[in-house]
Amino acid sequence: LAPTPYYYTTPHEARLLLHKRDRFSHKGTYGHALLLVGSYGKIGAAVLASRACLRSGVGLLTVQVPRCGYSVLQTAVPEAMCRPDGHQYVLTGQSEVESPAPAEYSTVGIGPGIGKAPETLAMLRELLPTLKKPIVLDADALNLLAEHRELLDILPHNSILTPHPKEFERLTQPWADDYEKLNSLQAFAKRYRVVVILKGAFTAVATPDGEVHFNSTGNPGLSTGGTGDVLTGVLTALLAQGYDSVEAAVLGVFAHGLAGDRAADQRGPIGMVASDVIDALRWD
Ligand code: APR
Ligand code: MG
Repeated sequence: LAPTPYYYTTPHEARLLLHKRDRFSHKGTYGHALLLVGSYGKIGAAVLASRACLRSGVGLLTVQVPRCGYSVLQTAVPEAMCRPDGHQYVLTGQSEVESPAPAEYSTVGIGPGIGKAPETLAMLRELLPTLKKPIVLDADALNLLAEHRELLDILPHNSILTPHPKEFERLTQPWADDYEKLNSLQAFAKRYRVVVILKGAFTAVATPDGEVHFNSTGNPGLSTGGTGDVLTGVLTALLAQGYDSVEAAVLGVFAHGLAGDRAADQRGPIGMVASDVIDALRWD
């Protein structure tokens, strides 16, 4: 009898995935991540993803935001380096300051708050073929992929996609029931050789090999704006530190949900906000 490809992430399994820190390590050991995030009116998403990335152990973080977000980012996240985009309101990928190409970073996280401006689509088109390592794609990066499906074929293999159900529906098609939903999740991850994190209660992590890992942590207190941006920061930090994509997805989703459970203990599920989830992240 073939084993079924379905798993449930327990605290024990999550702990086994966690990398210990070497006494003789330095910040170079833990990678340098690049986040491409934010647009006019959504710089908060950039701040949340950046803070979560730093709270998840990344060695160095550079954040590219539109010029309008520069002072906000530098003030709200002093630990991050900020490279202002050439555009005032949206991301174009051009930078005002001399800076390394995205491919030179340990990994890239893209999507929270970016919007769907034509310039941002053009950035994605130019960027994807240059990247050879897995990246994290979320939010409007996923919506742009859904609207320009040829981009799906040039995603770096083993990249992590983090759709909520509406975003996943745009990437595939509506499903009649949970059985169809699960099938199309597995088919999508296999076809494009990516890890897909379908978010919600019992978040499902589908792997390019056809496995699905259901998460055990998290609660309805997470149903509040910005918690998805936090997850993108977490995952980007784990890829930068050298976790492989499946490990990063399974561990990241677990730790994010656990932080949500701690935040709910402290603030209650109704009063908690995404920043509380960042403050509750713990990696031990
Ligand atoms: N149980 C467990 N986890 C949950 C629950 C729940 N009942 N509800 C939400 N979550 C978790 C999800 O698993 C996910 O990790 O909270 C996070 C929510 O992520 P998103 O849906 O991406 O939300 P976010 O991006 O922060 O905010 C909403 O999404 O549709 C866009 O434009 C919309 O700006 C809006 C944004
Ligand atoms: Mg989201």
